[in-house]
Amino acid sequence: MNKNILLCVSGGIAVYKAVALVSKLSQAGANVKVIMTASARQFVNPLSFQVMSKNDVYFDTFDEKDSNVIAHIDLADWADLILVAPATANIIGKLANGIADDMVSTTLLATTAPVWIAPAMNVHMYDHPAVKRNLDRLAADGYQFIEPSEGFLACGYVGKGRLEEPEKITTIVQDFFSATATPKPLTNKTVVVTAGALYVPFDEKHMIKPPANGVIGQALANEARTLGAHVIQIEDSSLNDLMQQLENYKNQDPEVLFIHAANVPTIEKTPLISVEGIKAVTFGQEVLGEPLLSIQSERWIDFSEEAQINGQIIATTNPQHFARTLWAQILKGEEQ
Ligand SMILES: Cc1cc2nc3c(=O)[nH]c(=O)nc-3n(C[C@H](O)[C@H](O)[C@H](O)COP(=O)(O)O)c2cc1C
Repeated sequence: MNKNILLCVSGGIAVYKAVALVSKLSQAGANVKVIMTASARQFVNPLSFQVMSKNDVYFDTFDEKDSNVIAHIDLADWADLILVAPATANIIGKLANGIADDMVSTTLLATTAPVWIAPAMNVHMYDHPAVKRNLDRLAADGYQFIEPSEGFLACGYVGKGRLEEPEKITTIVQDFFSATATPKPLTNKTVVVTAGALYVPFDEKHMIKPPANGVIGQALANEARTLGAHVIQIEDSSLNDLMQQLENYKNQDPEVLFIHAANVPTIEKTPLISVEGIKAVTFGQEVLGEPLLSIQSERWIDFSEEAQINGQIIATTNPQHFARTLWAQILKGEEQ
């Protein structure tokens, strides 16, 4: 595994396991660099990580050792993959809210590399609604997770919250890089995804915008990217602009795949969107033409708890999981 892995270590009792993780990743051939939060340094001295990774350890955003680069940007660009392990409730909350007040959180916002989060904390912390909300938000933003395992926790409780074992994390990382080495199913495909709301004119002065939070569209776009597609994401646009753009994309590439996950007002004057001659996936909107797949749900997909894909009921409460299932169905349909 000749890959650059940036390990971001935040301050939980499992920091000692992160030292073993650096060792396992290095043994598997990875080049590992480590950034620590101030709290993480309360648990383990940076020297342990330095020795294991054979690289400098970073923890101060303003300690610029090399005047040719800005360290956090350089590290963010260097990484093929970033692991946040252990991820505290605090760093999860900061990332979910775009806070960048130390070297770890700043680097996490500066990267375009995949970021995997391995939460580790007390079972009640993990179950706290605020932590759950932040994890859901990160899932919708496309972050991947290495779920904590169940067992004895350092705080004396038994439950979910233990950092996954370093050997297991290393295997997951190795599998990820071997999977990405093989061609992806949507490589060279263009996918246009609408998310959020589409506005339509109500009268000369007013537009109507239906409620939408865009989570499903976002998750579908993220999954398409993971599958190798060139994704054009259209968020909160007007229906007229969308129709124009769709026509252009169809002319550029007749094979373009259109996922219409944005909520469209159902007022009488709403013009129907044309998916004539285009492979389209719709979510119960009335359209002109034959969509490849039409998904039904009781309420608008962003707010619904389940949806029907090809007669199969699928939960929508975990948008990432829903997106994976839907893409698997689309790809299955494409093969036939
Ligand atoms: C002994 C001890 C163990 C802790 N273990 C955890 C933990 O496992 N998970 C967690 O989220 N916070 C844990 N904390 C609390 C965090 O250290 C604290 O929230 C800190 O602000 C996290 O900062 P950081 O995210 O910048 O590293 C622990 C604190 C102490 C004193």
